[in-house]
Amino acid sequence: MDASEEETRFCVRVFCLSEDQLQGGIQVAKDGQHRDLLLQVSPEGKGVSLVLMDDDRTCVLKITITSETDCCRFGAQSFLVSRGNMSSVLCFRTCSEYQAFQRLLSHRTEPRVEEHCVFDQRVEGSTALQHFQSSGCLLQQQNMLQDYLRTATYQKAILLNEVDFKDKIVLDVGCGTGILSFFALQAGAKKVYAVEASAVAKHAEVLVKSNGLSDKIVVLEGKVEEVTLPEQVDVIISEPIGYMLLNERMLEGYLHAKKWLKPKGMMFPTFSDIHLAPFTDEQLYMEHNARSSFWQQTCFHGVNLSGLHSAAVDEFFKQPIVDTFEWQILMARSTKYTINFLEAKEEDLHRLDIPFVFKLSQTGLIHGIAFWFDVAFVGSRMTVWLSTAPNQPLTHWYQVRCLLQTPLFAKTGQTLSGKVQLIANKRQSYDIHIMAVIDQSGFKSGNTLDLKNPFFRAPTWLRA
Ligand SMILES: C[S@@+](CC[C@H](N)C(=O)[O-])C[C@H]1O[C@@H](n2cnc3c(N)ncnc32)[C@H](O)[C@@H]1O
Repeated sequence: MDASEEETRFCVRVFCLSEDQLQGGIQVAKDGQHRDLLLQVSPEGKGVSLVLMDDDRTCVLKITITSETDCCRFGAQSFLVSRGNMSSVLCFRTCSEYQAFQRLLSHRTEPRVEEHCVFDQRVEGSTALQHFQSSGCLLQQQNMLQDYLRTATYQKAILLNEVDFKDKIVLDVGCGTGILSFFALQAGAKKVYAVEASAVAKHAEVLVKSNGLSDKIVVLEGKVEEVTLPEQVDVIISEPIGYMLLNERMLEGYLHAKKWLKPKGMMFPTFSDIHLAPFTDEQLYMEHNARSSFWQQTCFHGVNLSGLHSAAVDEFFKQPIVDTFEWQILMARSTKYTINFLEAKEEDLHRLDIPFVFKLSQTGLIHGIAFWFDVAFVGSRMTVWLSTAPNQPLTHWYQVRCLLQTPLFAKTGQTLSGKVQLIANKRQSYDIHIMAVIDQSGFKSGNTLDLKNPFFRAPTWLRA
């Protein structure tokens, strides 16, 4: 075998599986448990042909893989391909051989076969469509660009760490209009791959051309989970942040992109701290209750609505509140939960368990838990922070508050302990479960909320 053959030939162990409708379940094909075969991978039209040969190079099985073929990764280093009720599992000898095989497939099939599944497994189709339609609008992009603190902090983090970008290859995940890619070039980057899944990619391309940077910024339209880059990168930049940091689940795409990062490569942002603290806010609680009082009417155009009152209360209490507040309503120092983007894996974001023990600094009713986050850009020159804390200038992420079903009375010095569980869902968001107890009195409360459906509460200065 010459070098190029070695790269396209693999020794694999093949299992054939069949689905038996009558007996039910999956059967390993009767003619033997498995066979060790030679796999030859070669381009064929818009796809890839997989030819499986035995010792004397006789073709035993030929499979053509296109973007329509049902196939996926199976375990750590195997590949499953199905045709009708027959499936074949190709087990590679090592992970690196499997990865080499995957690269051959992804270079030659459109869209990328395995990775297509990663995004689709995470997000249901209708939610993704809606999300990318909204991101595709310039108005949406403008809202983000006009968040001065956000945009200026990203620029500052990149330019103050120029040394990390000078002559470097950069990947911008979810580039939108390409603003971060332009910042990377301002810091001296050699080349930027700007990946964007929504139609705004076309607008980014226009800006790249009109700014005369077509030789430096390559806009790749597609999901970061699907696109293929021609080379590994030194730095990944992205703004993958939603309400409470995690909403929209784009951080997983950011982590996924690390497959293109060189060893010791950098991530901007590098890590994030989610903060939580108990708060007291009688007015908010009353207001929230009052929203459902509409459903207490017994004669609305002659109809009694009160049968739906408790359902309305339940629905409204499931809504996290997106707004801002005076930090003095916080009843204890915040607890933080750190996500290190250099180390975290996508699966780490599927379920987050955040235990807390708050020592209360004031006596009163605890109405809920407030959340905010900070992100850090750790560069070689300096670390730059972007904070969404209530005592910092306001950003378009505001803060998020989750009410408890029943407020808890507590005295200064007592402790509130419990946990917050954040469980990812296919609507590109999280279910939030809160369980809390005042240790000294045993009073308990909690709530389950839907981050996908928050209540946007007008800031006080608009309500006045
Ligand atoms: C919060 S915006 C940031 C846009 C731009 N980077 C900026 O800072 O102004 C996130 C962008 O990422 C895109 N996006 C989200 N998930 C993506 C994915 N999996 N692959 C590629 N782009 C994605 C969205 O369409 C959106 O334009």
